[in-house]
Amino acid sequence: MLPWSNSSATPLSQLLSFIFTFLSFLPRMSWASEWIDYSPDGYATMTHYSLPANFVAACGCTSTSTNYPTAAMNQMAYGSSTSYGPACGQCFNLTLLNSFLSNPPFYPNVTKSVVIKVTDLCPLSHSGWCNATASSPNAGGHYLNFDLAWPSSSIPNDFFPSDEPLYGYTDFGVWNISYQSVPCSNWGGWNYAAALGSVADLGYSACCPGNPTGSTNNTCPSYSDDNGIPPDTQTSGFAISSSVSLLSILTLAVSLLSHML
Ligand SMILES: *[C@@H]1O[C@H](CO)[C@@H](O)[C@H](O)[C@H]1NC(C)=O
Ligand SMILES: *[C@@H]1O[C@H](CO)[C@@H](O)[C@H](O)[C@H]1NC(C)=O
Ligand SMILES: *[C@@H]1O[C@H](CO)[C@@H](O)[C@H](O)[C@H]1NC(C)=O
Ligand SMILES: *[C@@H]1O[C@H](CO)[C@@H](O)[C@H](O)[C@H]1NC(C)=O
Ligand SMILES: *[C@@H]1O[C@H](CO)[C@@H](O)[C@H](O)[C@H]1NC(C)=O
Repeated sequence: MLPWSNSSATPLSQLLSFIFTFLSFLPRMSWASEWIDYSPDGYATMTHYSLPANFVAACGCTSTSTNYPTAAMNQMAYGSSTSYGPACGQCFNLTLLNSFLSNPPFYPNVTKSVVIKVTDLCPLSHSGWCNATASSPNAGGHYLNFDLAWPSSSIPNDFFPSDEPLYGYTDFGVWNISYQSVPCSNWGGWNYAAALGSVADLGYSACCPGNPTGSTNNTCPSYSDDNGIPPDTQTSGFAISSSVSLLSILTLAVSLLSHML
């Protein structure tokens, strides 16, 4: 008997009715309903995370893409909660402006930029830097967060400027940055065919255009929309349908773990 059982109904039927009741409440648990419509350039926050070399992340971009600069984008701008989305494959020039968690803020005396390709999803959460929704920015006041895959064989270890004598540490963790949408011909992997495109074996579970322009003919749809699932704005994104491949679930699980600061 389940602990709350006080009738003659079997535990199984009670469990089913509990699950049914729980599911019927799910839509009301979501706390945003639209993707973030961002401009081609502006300000954002940048964090960094560990992406193992040759890892196939949420977009399903070829493993060789990890030999060049890549980043995850926050879920509500990325455009999907479970797999690929419209941001997949897009390239951005990211420029470090200042740290703002440190006291005082650190303004580097050098300009550091990196052109990244979006290959991964940074899941929506109630806090953290990927928590912006269409109506509420993240703690840095920005609607976009780029989670840079770093360290990376393609980005110098001293990419992030620091002043250890003054602060006592070198990693500021979160940066205020400017971003510009740029053609992927500016990306380090552009001249290497193996670094471009999707993992062929994944078929329709992957979408990583070499140079998406935003046009429907060369840009990934929202996986959620494409599959008739409304934009999933729940924290976990576990709106499992039969068309969601095991790989999507695994990559999402790995994403959730790897983006937790
Ligand atoms: C990226 O931005 C920096 C700083 O504004 C600029 O110097 C550089 O030319 C830009 N790179 C590209 C490819 O747009
Ligand atoms: C995101 O996190 C910040 C800081 O923790 C908080 O102020 C903000 O309300 C959060 N946004 C959402 C949509 O939860
Ligand atoms: C830039 O600042 C760092 C410390 O913040 C300092 O070590 C370095 O000498 C400065 N470089 C220039 C060119 O001023
Ligand atoms: C980020 O940089 C922009 C441009 O310099 C500046 O206007 C803004 O105040 C900065 N934001 C934070 C939180 O430091
Ligand atoms: C896709 O759309 C872009 C921009 O509208 C256009 O330049 C390009 O020719 C189109 N490609 C194909 C294959 O239709």
